[in-house]
Amino acid sequence: MVDNPLAQARLTVLRDARTEPAAFRAALTELTTMLVYEAARAFPFSTYPIRTPVAPTEGTRLARPPLLVPVLRAGLGMADAALALLPGCQMGFVGLARDEETFAPRAYLESLPSDLTGLPALVLDPMLATGGSLEHCCRLLVARGCADITVLCVLAAPEGIARLTAADLPLRLVTAAVDDRLDARRFIVPGLGDAGDRQFGLM
Ligand code: PRP
Repeated sequence: MVDNPLAQARLTVLRDARTEPAAFRAALTELTTMLVYEAARAFPFSTYPIRTPVAPTEGTRLARPPLLVPVLRAGLGMADAALALLPGCQMGFVGLARDEETFAPRAYLESLPSDLTGLPALVLDPMLATGGSLEHCCRLLVARGCADITVLCVLAAPEGIARLTAADLPLRLVTAAVDDRLDARRFIVPGLGDAGDRQFGLM
């Protein structure tokens, strides 16, 4: 949980129903920077020799830059911020739309490297509601050999966390908040509404 007050202030902007799409996208970008920064504490790194203007010393770099995987649509709003902090990363894309009657994810895009053996993944999706979408996405990654998944969310519902835990996937979740519950429409309560619609307008 990233409960830093700067992160929580951006989350408040996202939650506020009065926030317009441009301000919503800006707050999501800033919050994603903070989520990536916190998630990266667990990333393995290696050292290598460098020389400052004064003396030799040791430099640090990520040992294995992760594959970035925004889950379309809403995860697109996290992609630029993640790539800015991790400019050397490859990016894959998964497109999922939740059926509003069955609440199951419908897959419409899968653009991923065929072999992810040895490559960690950083999955970007602002919302973990029932968990169906993120479970689907993570299973796609595991089927390609990925064994190290970090999921970045803005908001998670307890139901979604329970589902991902039961799915027994090699993942850890970094989120800015765990909310109370899901409502009858499987929206997160209190949540922030539909993160895709709030960024890009109603579809
Ligand atoms: C939202 C959200 C997640 C998913 C969460 O996307 O961005 O991907 O729903 O719900 P779940 O945990 O119950 O699967 P949506 O399907 O609305 O598509 P969008 O990103 O195009 O708005």
